[in-house]
Amino acid sequence: MKNILVTGGAGFIGSNFINYILNKRDDYFIVNLDKLTYAGNLENLKEVESKKNYTFIKGDIVNSELVNYIFEKYKIKYVINFAAESHVDRSILGSEIFFRTNVIGTNVLLEAAKRFNVERFLQISTDEVYGSLGPTGLFTEKTPVAPNSPYSASKASADMMVQSFNHTYGLPTLITRCSNNYGPLQFPEKLIPLMILNALKDKKLPVYGDGMNVRDWIYVIDHNKAVELVFENGKIGEVYNIGAGNEMPNIEIVKIILKNLNKSEELIQFVKDRPGHDKRYAIDSSKIQNDLKWKPEFNFESAIVNTIEWYLKNKKWWERIVSGEYQNYYNKQYSDRI
Ligand code: NAD
Ligand code: DAU
Repeated sequence: MKNILVTGGAGFIGSNFINYILNKRDDYFIVNLDKLTYAGNLENLKEVESKKNYTFIKGDIVNSELVNYIFEKYKIKYVINFAAESHVDRSILGSEIFFRTNVIGTNVLLEAAKRFNVERFLQISTDEVYGSLGPTGLFTEKTPVAPNSPYSASKASADMMVQSFNHTYGLPTLITRCSNNYGPLQFPEKLIPLMILNALKDKKLPVYGDGMNVRDWIYVIDHNKAVELVFENGKIGEVYNIGAGNEMPNIEIVKIILKNLNKSEELIQFVKDRPGHDKRYAIDSSKIQNDLKWKPEFNFESAIVNTIEWYLKNKKWWERIVSGEYQNYYNKQYSDRI
């Protein structure tokens, strides 16, 4: 049995990961440590909550006493760190919590991992640590780290701490850097679910700037299959980029969503740009494809339709979110843009 601490497992990617992996493997015992911030939701984990090889602990990765207790009690030998403050716009509104969770929290986990001699520590990072691309070129693992937002700066800082623990103490670490994810269970502050829900409610769709910023989209299950491969077979000390080679300008995504929902493009509203908005992300994933034989399985045209259908079928899941605390954030975020 592999005793694995998964952090942030109640969020979008982490809960998709736990649901996927526990459906497949009986040899993993997963301890899910999650603070249940606005982005964490235990409803995401209904299908695994009664499994014998799963347990949930509500808590903060910054709390070293708790983290050490968990390592000891559950004999943790593996860590997959999904926990983070993950939204760029929120980091622009206030950076402190990003530094606290993403940098200090990762450091607490690293210290505990060192103390308890873990066998693999996988840091879930992001392509945003590389900064922004011009009209051509791709991020490779050798692209210098040059983050631009408080969010990406905190993630890059965490990556550097991870690498320093590998270099200095020989901690067996791995890092993945993935592009923009979409799929079920994504909190509706991110582009795709926000646009789906606004369209369903006939609200305006706020597109930043001219809508020509480019992101490289990957379905969350493709990301998680790559995480599984890196966790199992990745070479210690290495970084692996993950991307599905699916670059698109934001405006194109928004139009696809409207078309699928049979809604008018008149709902689109161009608003004030995100400060410091990165122009383009695009991933070269040839390393993970060649070394670990990973390849994306989902194509955007059908996976976006699945995603839209999921939001249509799971109104209860998102209705509580959009009527609660999120509404305050939404109003604050968009009132001075529109
Ligand atoms: P999310 O915001 O949906 O979920 C984050 C989870 O972490 C939540 O369940 C939250 O409660 C938990 N959390 C936050 N602070 C915590 C703390 N101090 N202690 C314990 N738990 C805490 O994020 P996501 O989109 O699922 O992203 C997961 C990871 O993947 C993040 O590290 C993010 O940087 C990275 N990533 C995300 C994307 C993307 O497109 N969403 C792409 C590449 C990498
Ligand atoms: O690239 C990986 C990163 O992708 C992850 O590390 C982050 O955790 C994740 O949030 C995501 O960051 P982005 O900033 O790229 O994602 P977001 O969904 O916030 O925005 C995608 C693009 O859409 C971006 O160019 C900004 C634009 N946008 C976003 C929102 C929320 C809009 O035009 N309007 C909006 O209302």
